[in-house]
Amino acid sequence: MTWGLKNRLSRIIKPETGRTVMLAIDHGYFLGPTTGLEVPSKTIAPIIPFADALMPTRGVLRTSVEATTSTPIVLRVSGGNSIVGSDLSNEGITTSMEEAIRLNAAGVALSIYVGSEYEHQTLMNLSRLVDKGERYGMPVLAVTAVGKEMARDTRYLALCCRIAAELGAHFVKTYYCEDFEKVVTGCPVPLVIAGGKKLPEKEALQLTYDAIVHGATGVDMGRNIFQSAHPV
Ligand code: 5RP
Repeated sequence: MTWGLKNRLSRIIKPETGRTVMLAIDHGYFLGPTTGLEVPSKTIAPIIPFADALMPTRGVLRTSVEATTSTPIVLRVSGGNSIVGSDLSNEGITTSMEEAIRLNAAGVALSIYVGSEYEHQTLMNLSRLVDKGERYGMPVLAVTAVGKEMARDTRYLALCCRIAAELGAHFVKTYYCEDFEKVVTGCPVPLVIAGGKKLPEKEALQLTYDAIVHGATGVDMGRNIFQSAHPV
């Protein structure tokens, strides 16, 4: 890992704690105006000071986040699909590494769809992004996206996370599952978990606690934060 890459990663995963609370607000890239994110600037402003990192697309970053923020940005750079399209897994790289650098990103994020029709394409997207990341010192977060029909079980998530790490992802985002330690053990890079659909607050906190106790480095959560009545 180059100095620049380590430095950027240390802005996201805090060296003092080895942890991160990332706030994911990239949902609109395929879901449109998601509940709670209809006007992104209104949602983001009050909670951004409490996040260790923010995960937007470049469009929301430019239009809805103050450029004076000190919160590091993990830029979503994959997309090209939509919830009403023929296959969610048909993603490409939507934002160049040069643009990510211009936007002063601390990291870039891209989804892989293991077991889906466009598996190969999304895995090659990841490989190419890691090559660029290594060239420019930019950490890459691989998101193990699940298709509508896919089970989020231990075996499947362990497979996805390991493949992401083997292809060079510097950290991986996945879902919490039973026997989560098995997913963690098989993945030699830090793991953060998504929250999924909105849960009652106590359950979301319990999910977070369980994930951390079983080896996650942190969270990259969206709906369970910005759809909460008490997001802070
Ligand atoms: C979509 C994403 C989302 O950012 C992710 O699912 C996190 O949000 P949530 O906690 O709402 O599930 O990466 O692929």
